[in-house]
Amino acid sequence: MHLPKAELHLHIEGTLEPELAFALARRNGVQLPYADTEELRTAYLFEDLQSFLDLYYALMAVLRTEEDFEELADAYLARAAAQGVRHAEIFFDPQAHTARGVPIGTVVEGLGRALDRSEEKHGISTQLIMCFLRDQSAESALLTLEAAKPYLHRISAVGLDSAEVGHPPAKFREVYEAAAALGLRKVAHAGEEGPPEYIREALDVLGVERIDHGLRCMEDPELVKRLVADRVPLTLCPLSNVRLRAIDTLEDHPLRAMMAAGLLCTVNSDDPAYFGGYVGDTFHAVREALGLDQEQLRTLARNSFEAAFLDHDEERRARYLSEVEAYAFD
Ligand code: HPA
Ligand code: ZN
Repeated sequence: MHLPKAELHLHIEGTLEPELAFALARRNGVQLPYADTEELRTAYLFEDLQSFLDLYYALMAVLRTEEDFEELADAYLARAAAQGVRHAEIFFDPQAHTARGVPIGTVVEGLGRALDRSEEKHGISTQLIMCFLRDQSAESALLTLEAAKPYLHRISAVGLDSAEVGHPPAKFREVYEAAAALGLRKVAHAGEEGPPEYIREALDVLGVERIDHGLRCMEDPELVKRLVADRVPLTLCPLSNVRLRAIDTLEDHPLRAMMAAGLLCTVNSDDPAYFGGYVGDTFHAVREALGLDQEQLRTLARNSFEAAFLDHDEERRARYLSEVEAYAFD
């Protein structure tokens, strides 16, 4: 739980807890189609990625003002700090907000207010990763990048999320090229529900530096070899994989096999308000389910800092890595 770690796969909208959703709904005069938090929680039984996304986008209706986004991010950072997080690279989905009439500036400045205080208040350094919704058009992604231009000082990378199957990475070649030209780094969700080919495409066509999820690489030994040789980090989210039925049970998760294959695995929470745990809870759960020993847990923590976008601050990375090495398990 307290092992120092970086969280590299975390959708800030996926940290919206039922209690905060109802508080914001009241404050903003938004009617939720659930009587109370208890009834809302009964909707958290998902069949697949899409059934989760339907609820995830619907609940965002309560997020309207800078203050809402600030509260959301501050609540996440407080929970993350209590679970050993020292550095967080946080996804946000601007199109899910602009489509509802909330300007991208409201989202970025609101999140930014919480992030600006994070290091002092929570001891967590932060970055923002702007994701494009892959089930929206390539044109919409380009317009989103354009709209983000006044806020690029707050954004370190672009990502790709939402419904994967039928929306291959190549659809977003142009916007990724434009993002790179603006100095943004690149990641993409691939191989969560989509085939190993999407992982290859994310690397070859989009030029991403990390693969978010990447679970299905295990179906393709040649791809695994390449990911190992190139030390491409995978941001795995085991609790998400169980809740969205990519795998049956946590005991079936290939994390152990993936580490044994030499893949650079990290463990993350994805959408912790929906999937039953924050990142410390996730470390705890995989330890129990897969019988990972202390050195394997330490390796996962070390990997998280090695995979972090800290190239501009190697001193900080080294400090975090030494915290990992010095950590005494109790
Ligand atoms: N996959 C794809 N899109 C998402 C996810 C996810 O796990 N969470 C939030 N948006
Ligand atoms: Zn995700």
